[in-house]
Amino acid sequence: MTTRTNEMIVSTAQADGKLVVELVETPVTPPGPNEVLVEMEAAPINPSDLGLLFGSADLENAEFSDRRIVAPMSPAMTASLRKRHGDAMPVGNEGAGRVVEAGSDPVAQALMGKRVACLPGGAFARYRIADAATCMPLPDDVSAEQGAAAFVNPLTALGFVETMKRDGGKALVHTAAASNLGQMLLRICLEDGIGIVNVVRSDAQVQLLRDIGAVHALNMAEDGYDAALVDAIAATQAFTAFDPIGGGTQMGRILNAMEQVASRDERFSRYGSSRMKRGYVYGRLDTGPIVMDRSFGISWSVSGWLLFNFLQTVSAEVKERMYARVMSGLTTTFASHYSDRVSLAGMLDRDAVMTYNARKTGEKFLVLPQA
Ligand SMILES: NC(=O)c1ccc[n+]([C@@H]2O[C@H](COP(=O)([O-])OP(=O)(O)OC[C@H]3O[C@@H](n4cnc5c(N)ncnc54)[C@H](OP(=O)(O)O)[C@@H]3O)[C@@H](O)[C@H]2O)c1
Repeated sequence: MTTRTNEMIVSTAQADGKLVVELVETPVTPPGPNEVLVEMEAAPINPSDLGLLFGSADLENAEFSDRRIVAPMSPAMTASLRKRHGDAMPVGNEGAGRVVEAGSDPVAQALMGKRVACLPGGAFARYRIADAATCMPLPDDVSAEQGAAAFVNPLTALGFVETMKRDGGKALVHTAAASNLGQMLLRICLEDGIGIVNVVRSDAQVQLLRDIGAVHALNMAEDGYDAALVDAIAATQAFTAFDPIGGGTQMGRILNAMEQVASRDERFSRYGSSRMKRGYVYGRLDTGPIVMDRSFGISWSVSGWLLFNFLQTVSAEVKERMYARVMSGLTTTFASHYSDRVSLAGMLDRDAVMTYNARKTGEKFLVLPQA
């Protein structure tokens, strides 16, 4: 039997107000009956990983050494992470690699030797155990890099469309729309003939989305944005919005624009239009409070949206359909683009951290754990 040594990135919030992110050596344990051991070849650094990795720790004043970062946390952050004090948490939701050991269950055995996309949690590691039932074997012509981000953003983008349809809608509004996820969502909408109003914060992002084929791409930083938003919602009839920004006034402005469109053809009511307007906040790019100037009547809702919760609400048939679509579009509709590739140790380099933690358009990093 091969003896393997594992290395993995872990993040530990300490009770003394320090956050420690480090590359540690751990033993490789054999997979259970329904599990496989994956030799990880590629894993994207997604914003959700950054939340667990660093949260709002003060990286400007952190100490960076060879395999370790020690960053001060504010008292509020230290208190909010009380439940994980002292726990070395593995990081990295998803990735791709080769199955090198498989449990006794036939589902696990069938994956032996195959390259799979997986969602093991702790993907920033040389080896990781994954639940065999959730692994997706990659087609032969798809590399580990191309398959590394097969779960989180593709399924989320497809999940938005399912959610919008379930709400009875036929079009949607999306903010921070030039993101990796936003570009996928736009391509899905173009393929499926679904109206989409893309909201971004620079002219360069407007152009990026127009180049993909966006009809409605609005710069929220420009004068006239609110009026343009009303026009775009009127043109698409989009009464469902997905927003990863969270903090600030954006969701309220979108609901107000929806209300203006919805009330056009209705008689006056002191309760506002009867049209239901829905907002889903699915990220915290702005960690400030959500501020809403409520001029949108009573028929509205705003709630959180999380992929893992959504997946529990759909049938096996819908899930199968979504997985199959992702697999067939990994190099097209669902392609992710990376600005940089880093090793596990390279993830802890100061310049790398400062760049990927900024979550800027087109600056997504890919970790190559075997490098
Ligand atoms: N809830 C879920 O289940 C779920 C699942 C998947 C992804 N997500 C979320 O989806 C979002 C996008 O993920 P991704 O991997 O596609 O990210 P990404 O490619 O790194 O893109 C992040 C985008 O957000 C923009 N941005 C950052 N801070 C902003 C702010 N304060 N206001 C407005 N725009 C801002 C950036 O634009 P600039 O270049 O202008 O900074 C960039 O276009 C993340 O928030 C992630 O957490 C949530």
